Amino acid sequence: MNRVNKYVAALVLLPVLALNNMLFAQSNTEVENKVNEIFNQLTLEEKIGQMIQIASTNGDEVPQYVIDAIKEGRVGSILNAGTPKAIAKIQKIVAKESPNKIPLIIGRDVIHGYKTIFPIPLGQAASWNRGLVETGANIAGKEAYDEGINWTFAPMIDISRDPRWGRIAESLGEDPYLTAELGAAMVVGFQGNELSAEEGRIAACAKHFIGYGATENGKDYNAVSIPDYQLWNTYLPPFKAALDAGVGTFMTAFNDINGVPASANQFLLKEVLRDQWKFDGFVVSDWESMSQMIKQGYSENLRDVALQSASAQLDMEMVSSSYQAHLKELVESGEVDIEMVNTAVKNILRVKVALGLFDKDYKGVPKNTEILSDAHKEEAKKMAIESLVLLKNDNALPLAIGKEKIGIVGPLADAPAEQVGTWSLDAVIDQVETPLNTFQEAYGDQIVFAKGLENARSNKTDQIKATVEAMNEVKDVIVFAGEDAILSGEGHSRAFINLPGAQEELINALADAGKNIILVVQAGRPLTLEAVENKVNAILYAWHPGTMGGPALLDVITGKVSPSGKLPVTFPRTVGQVPIYYSSIESGRPANPQMLGIPTGTPLDPVGLTNNYLDVSVTPAYAFGYGLTYTSFSISKPKFSKLELTKGEKITVEVEVKNTGKKEGAEVVQLYIRDKVASYMRPKLELKGFEKVYLAPGESKKVTFEIGPDQLSFFDKNGNVLLEKGKFEIFVGNASDNLVSEIITLKEVK
Ligand code: BGC
Repeated sequence: MNRVNKYVAALVLLPVLALNNMLFAQSNTEVENKVNEIFNQLTLEEKIGQMIQIASTNGDEVPQYVIDAIKEGRVGSILNAGTPKAIAKIQKIVAKESPNKIPLIIGRDVIHGYKTIFPIPLGQAASWNRGLVETGANIAGKEAYDEGINWTFAPMIDISRDPRWGRIAESLGEDPYLTAELGAAMVVGFQGNELSAEEGRIAACAKHFIGYGATENGKDYNAVSIPDYQLWNTYLPPFKAALDAGVGTFMTAFNDINGVPASANQFLLKEVLRDQWKFDGFVVSDWESMSQMIKQGYSENLRDVALQSASAQLDMEMVSSSYQAHLKELVESGEVDIEMVNTAVKNILRVKVALGLFDKDYKGVPKNTEILSDAHKEEAKKMAIESLVLLKNDNALPLAIGKEKIGIVGPLADAPAEQVGTWSLDAVIDQVETPLNTFQEAYGDQIVFAKGLENARSNKTDQIKATVEAMNEVKDVIVFAGEDAILSGEGHSRAFINLPGAQEELINALADAGKNIILVVQAGRPLTLEAVENKVNAILYAWHPGTMGGPALLDVITGKVSPSGKLPVTFPRTVGQVPIYYSSIESGRPANPQMLGIPTGTPLDPVGLTNNYLDVSVTPAYAFGYGLTYTSFSISKPKFSKLELTKGEKITVEVEVKNTGKKEGAEVVQLYIRDKVASYMRPKLELKGFEKVYLAPGESKKVTFEIGPDQLSFFDKNGNVLLEKGKFEIFVGNASDNLVSEIITLKEVK
């Protein structure tokens, strides 16, 4: 039964229950009965215990404070619980010595793989491949499950439009629709079609609710201002999609939204998430995001924190201790309604029951021998291949390697710990296959390697001369440059987003020596590459590609597979253009993309008073949705089933995609709309559909998109859906800057 059918079946079978999300595989009544049975045995202290998550430590041992908390019923969840052995000990203490024998839900950041590391999420988003993203999450979840983990803090579905922000690496990019589609695929990958006790399934967590990616000036943990209108149209849709995919938990964000911290935000946590969306899983805070409200100047002290978060129905506190210290007294004084606690505990128990935690007897012995198996690595390789985006190619790729020597240069050619990227806590570094390993294995002595710089951040240029000399007999040099893993991720924002250290000098030196340069960039964010773009013959963007980055790059560089990634985020020319994203609002004085006022040092030309910069084009370096390949595709003129529709009707748009080149490849057909006139200004373009099509040379396939109320409506500032009649421009193409369009008219909406 597919998800839609299940939903329909659930509607028919269980009319009395909250059905907006589908948490449970067992019938809801069974789950609710079990939840109530457990709940009824709990004292107030034990209930509050369920609402507390503490952090343990790595290793086989369980610290005494964790043991004490379990025995005294003061904890409902542990994060970072240690090795499988430690987790087994923990669950054993629960089963034998805790007051109510309620299993702990063991959480961990399993973000883009557990031991088999997949590309960073931003790289996965570049695949535009829902199926691969789902499989990646599924494998990550299975590997984690076998080591006793039953809850991951993923997917992160924060819309990210500022490449300075380090956590853009962990996001699915700038676009609400792409993020919603791929975020939902991750939820299904971790949980299955609904939260269930099935082997290998773990609970997912939609985070960070909400607006974390909109952090002011790209600094982490900064203030966030989002107009309500944008909240509804840009930031909330991916979370709604995760909810519709059945996500079991939500995590609040560190930031405030318009002056109210996410962890005390009654509007978002109560009105939107509970009242409107009917979410009945549980909400966890972020790491000390509750106690941090004191530093943010929102709470006077921990007592206030507990009161404010409880008043927003925040169910579980991560790491800080306000609930532990004050919730009981707040309930007893009547400041917090006992119903808040009851609801929270039931929300938490509901997830535990649905996950089958009460039926599991975890012995700490991994059952799945598949951790880091060939099959898992093969999937990681597939995903790494599809994440690669070819940004530039002056006939340098694919590289046909005969008997000649090939140069490999750069600090990231053989840097396994960098290759796995941010948030890969459990990566097994000696299993990582680097480009240097892989090329040497394939081509032996033909490979001439020189690192060029000690590491990607090094400013020391003393190895550059020798590196160029080492390449004396070499014509083609593949340069592996970019960012170390630590330059992105939490708390790792950058104000300059070019190649760090002396990497630009290294590339310049090789270019001056007349080498053909294939630049492979590994990075956790879009980098500004203008300084080197004209010095190199090809640029392949590899993000941080994970365990199998080397073999993936070998296959694509040598042409065994054509690159098919498309950018999930706009690449600026310079950091001064940030934020730059394709779906911005049109100006009343639109800029002429060709117009450039004063390239540095020249007199000011009359530029007109338009929405431009004087010193850089308004266009990005590379547009959202862009990516080259080795073959060529044609997309036929879109065929519309009709050009006028009324409310409730749908139009289909059909195109034929043909591989007109000589190599196999994949094209991502993208559908965008623009609402021409509306009661709120609408974006210049909005992605509303995409399909990745795999074609042999000469082969063609039809792609059909539907356009109806879902695509044409939007939200007003109060979250009401508006479907307004008028003209819409419908665009189809293979990048947000390479589209053809047709106007359709929505005639009647009554
Ligand atoms: C991060 C979360 C993460 C949590 C638990 C926090 O610092 O913001 O995304 O899930 O830690 O490790």
